[in-house]
Amino acid sequence: MPENIILEMKEIEIKFPGVKALDKVDFTLRKGEVHSLLGENGAGKSTLIKCLTGVNRKDGGKILLNGQEINPTSPQQAVDLGISTVFQEINLCPNLTVAENIFIGRQPMKRGGIDWKTINKRANELMERFHLDIDVTRPLSFYSTAVQQMVSIARAVDIQAKILILDEPTSSLDDNEVRLLFEVMRQLKAEGMGIIFITHFLDQVYEISDRMTILRNGHLIGSYEIGQLNKVQLVTEMIGKDIDVIFNLKRADVKEDAAYMLEAEHIGVPGKVKDISVTLKEGELLGFAGLLGSGRTETAEMLFGAEKTAQGKIRKKGSDISLKTPHEAIMNRIAFCPEDRKTDGIIGDLSIRENIMLAVQARRGFMHPMSRAEQDKLADYYIKALGIATPDAEKKIGELSGGNQQKVILARWMATEPDVLILDEPTRGIDVGAKAEIQRLMLERCRDGVSVIFISSELDEIIRCSNRIVVMRDRQKVAEVDGATCTQQDILNIIAEGSAAENGKEASV
Ligand SMILES: Nc1ncnc2c1ncn2[C@@H]1O[C@H](COP(=O)(O)OP(=O)(O)OP(=O)(O)O)[C@@H](O)[C@H]1O
Ligand SMILES: [Mg+2]
Repeated sequence: MPENIILEMKEIEIKFPGVKALDKVDFTLRKGEVHSLLGENGAGKSTLIKCLTGVNRKDGGKILLNGQEINPTSPQQAVDLGISTVFQEINLCPNLTVAENIFIGRQPMKRGGIDWKTINKRANELMERFHLDIDVTRPLSFYSTAVQQMVSIARAVDIQAKILILDEPTSSLDDNEVRLLFEVMRQLKAEGMGIIFITHFLDQVYEISDRMTILRNGHLIGSYEIGQLNKVQLVTEMIGKDIDVIFNLKRADVKEDAAYMLEAEHIGVPGKVKDISVTLKEGELLGFAGLLGSGRTETAEMLFGAEKTAQGKIRKKGSDISLKTPHEAIMNRIAFCPEDRKTDGIIGDLSIRENIMLAVQARRGFMHPMSRAEQDKLADYYIKALGIATPDAEKKIGELSGGNQQKVILARWMATEPDVLILDEPTRGIDVGAKAEIQRLMLERCRDGVSVIFISSELDEIIRCSNRIVVMRDRQKVAEVDGATCTQQDILNIIAEGSAAENGKEASV
């Protein structure tokens, strides 16, 4: 065995009822390398990691760490062996402070008690290393998902791991935060740490990794040095078919005589979003661009009654409507698929079918239950339409891969057949093929006359799909641009500092 290989996984097999999640998969990790693990939703990436970290038991194969066979049966054992993981869904305690979260389970002691002074001091040093300017004595929940993600990485780093596993760490980080994380990763790499990196952002793969391994449907497709495959070849290997179809999406045209579907005038919530006016025509796709925290989600929530507007009014099809609760929104045929699926959306113990029918049932009222045949039909339709990887509709949603859970929540809202469909980061954590599929479905809805609000941090997909784009900064709308003529740079300039007036390309409001 060459000296620099620290980890060798051989012929790993994992079975779940009805699925072979991994079929004789080999994987190696070298000292001081970043190795990307790639594949579509449900390909088996997280499962491979969970078997290495003692979360899942394996049904076959061997794991060698520095040439010695290991069989971790719990995450703690894996940590003791020097293998630290930041999981796809953050697994920290929101009510504890940042510092407590970093040291939970391994608090330094002093005279029989926990040594808070040292804990806070070391936490501060770590945060400095990550260039995070935060108060470590505040509860973790006080901070954004991005910060929470960085905290869980800091924790893993501080454990002095030899192997660091990052399962989609960047899906909720903005560009600056990604830069920061990469800086830290390069530092750790230089110190000899081996890093396994899972992501659906292919540009990031090329930027940071030394090697990549591709899985498809539980099978190993191959391991490659980064220069061996270009992006097109990589995607082709991941999805197992040509990608031309995927990139041939075109925005839907809004009919000239299209009526206004939704008109919001001067809505706002003190301290959250300032005086916003937006309009949406029938069949129009309105993109919301802006950094995390710019007020995109809060605006969407106001249009769904999840955040009560303190001012202004909202009209639908020309009539004033009240949107004080999500239920009122649902009754007005407005649907909202939230961003944070773990806290806002998923009911892990229910099946895929039950999770999909929830919103439809809520609109109908519980006096009119859906028949089982209707439920089955609905679930089967969306499993097929969105390509949800599952043997059937009865599988618990909690057992699906992260990206497939996201698709189920999306199906829940699409199934209500809304007039206005609001999607907050619907393609986050979703593989390239499914991403294109979701964009296609959105555009198809527009062609049927549905109005869509599409929030995304990825400017290329916003520009590709939107008729108009609202740009937000610092909790206010700073510009509105035409989707057909604007460029990514235009939007970046507006976000950075420019104003609508300087842009010169804004559409009429
Ligand atoms: N606890 C479980 N019980 C049953 N099936 C499971 C369980 N965990 C994973 N699976 C199945 O194993 C397969 C691989 O899932 P995995 O989570 O490894 O995918 P992934 O590559 O990480 O996808 P994503 O990009 O969506 O996160 C999927 O078909 C999934 O439904
Ligand atoms: Mg996963």
